[in-house]
Amino acid sequence: MCGIMGFAGKSKASEILIEGLRRLEYRGYDSSGIAVSNDDIIVIKEKGKIDILEKSVNEINPQGNIGIGHTRWATHGIPDKTNAHPHTSMNGVVTLVHNGIIENYIDIKSDLIGKGYAFKSQTDTEIIAQLFDYLFDGDAISTMIKTAERLKGSYAIAMLVNGFEDKIFAMKKDSPLIIGIGENENYLASDIPAILPYTKDCYIVNDNEFIEISNNEIKVYNDCKIEKEFCVKTIDLGIETTEKDGYDSFLAKEIFEQPKAVKNTISPLIKDKKIVLPFDFPDNFVEKLNRIYIVACGSAYHVGMTAKYIIEDMVKIPVIVDIASEFRYRNPVIHKNDLCIFISQSGETADTLASLRKAKEKGAFTLSIVNAPYSTISRESDAVIYTNAGVEMAVATTKALSSQLAVIYILSAYFAKIKNLLSDNELMDFVTEIQALPEKIAKTIECNNSTRELAKYISTKEHIFFIGRGIDYPICLEGALKLKEISYIHCEGYGAGELKHGTISLIEDGTIVIALVTDKVLYEKMISNIKEVKSRGAFVIAIVNENMSDIVEIANKVIYIPDTIKSLSPSVSVIPLQLLAYHTTKEKRFDVDKPRNLAKSVTVE
Ligand code: G6P
Repeated sequence: MCGIMGFAGKSKASEILIEGLRRLEYRGYDSSGIAVSNDDIIVIKEKGKIDILEKSVNEINPQGNIGIGHTRWATHGIPDKTNAHPHTSMNGVVTLVHNGIIENYIDIKSDLIGKGYAFKSQTDTEIIAQLFDYLFDGDAISTMIKTAERLKGSYAIAMLVNGFEDKIFAMKKDSPLIIGIGENENYLASDIPAILPYTKDCYIVNDNEFIEISNNEIKVYNDCKIEKEFCVKTIDLGIETTEKDGYDSFLAKEIFEQPKAVKNTISPLIKDKKIVLPFDFPDNFVEKLNRIYIVACGSAYHVGMTAKYIIEDMVKIPVIVDIASEFRYRNPVIHKNDLCIFISQSGETADTLASLRKAKEKGAFTLSIVNAPYSTISRESDAVIYTNAGVEMAVATTKALSSQLAVIYILSAYFAKIKNLLSDNELMDFVTEIQALPEKIAKTIECNNSTRELAKYISTKEHIFFIGRGIDYPICLEGALKLKEISYIHCEGYGAGELKHGTISLIEDGTIVIALVTDKVLYEKMISNIKEVKSRGAFVIAIVNENMSDIVEIANKVIYIPDTIKSLSPSVSVIPLQLLAYHTTKEKRFDVDKPRNLAKSVTVE
């Protein structure tokens, strides 16, 4: 989604803004722009990559030391130069950038048109600038407060106001905004990685706070224009975490980093073969735990689906898994003995955040599994388990997903132990298997070469099907999502038994079907399903445990993965699917890190 960068200091603002925007590129964007305050405010914007913007910026060479920048992921209006941010109001009172969606922009726009305001763009953002212009009373903070009162929706906004050339003003609601505090220079950004090269001291802005930033001062006001104290946090993240480290892409680096990501995730949660959570549940909560809701989006939702298989099997309580965009608008029945778990890499996904708030309103105990430290979901949950995968830059998630799976195994064992469904020895064995995962994942990554070969064939196809049963089914959904989102090949994941109910009619000569088979109990069933598609012409790639070698008689190609106990198999079975997606996309010469139309952090609904 859109990214915001701001700088107030002594250095050349345009250079710092461009560098910051590059660090926000991973969020996804289709145009970008900056505004630099000198004697005048100079606005430069371009459609497409930041390189194009940088070229224009170098030609114009703005000299100011204060400025704002933006990467735009189009929602209202096509991606072009006019719709790109920053937007300047008709009378030049304000120039601003915005992340979020203003839901009542049509009403405000027609009201302002009636008052003589002319609009240049199709964006919802331009109305914020024009409204601020209309309401301007000579004081930027009080005008921001009045503007915020009229806006419905979500926003993080940074602005340059005419007459206040040495300042940036900002406000937010439901979209993230971070202030970075340096020595005689201060920063503003949507996300921590953008400011990491400059400072680790941050203030995370809250909703309905109104901010004034200059090179040597930061002021935070509430919505009555009373100045507030604010607490600076030092961020414990290294800048090196956002480099490619010699890999051709962030995706490749992150796939190969998975053993480390999983190890870093499980290490703090296991002490002497016992599970230690970083928080306490309320007294007797787990003993009485009745049901679990898991709510998430995208790949994190697939982790939730996988968790259902594991938790229901090990903990013997029902698990309801919801897509966050559905959960937030339905009326889920939540009892006091229910636990609501929210899974999110970014910790900022708008629908997951809204679902968390809904669950809290209903009185639920909320637990989030989050990768990004200090993110909104982690801060607003009753309890959080961090996945410690490190900063994930590629839009398609890999190491965060693997780390989320690891947390699910640990939580399942924790619940099962408290509910007396695991003996001490069984717990110790299970924990030992979890601790063996980083090595097994590393071993699975050795199928890199065979997946590269298969990718040449896969890249020639227009449709691919993934089939699996039991715990392999959600991983098939994840494999299909991974391949389609970056290679643009149409892919679908199915429960193998469901294929006969329609989809098998799409199988013809040469159709690729990728079959995931890790559960011995379901092996024979899977063999029948594979034969069914083969007899209709499918080319079957089977991904199986090492001990299932007789599948070689049936499938066209076989990829072997290490044996694990059933519940932990997703951690290894997902690896070849990630590698197939990566190599197929490379084969098609698309950008593996920044697929078209997608955003890493989906901060609007
Ligand atoms: C986007 C990303 C996905 C991610 C989903 C949920 O669509 O591209 O990789 O799974 O959002 O994001 P979250 O940050 O909440 O895990």
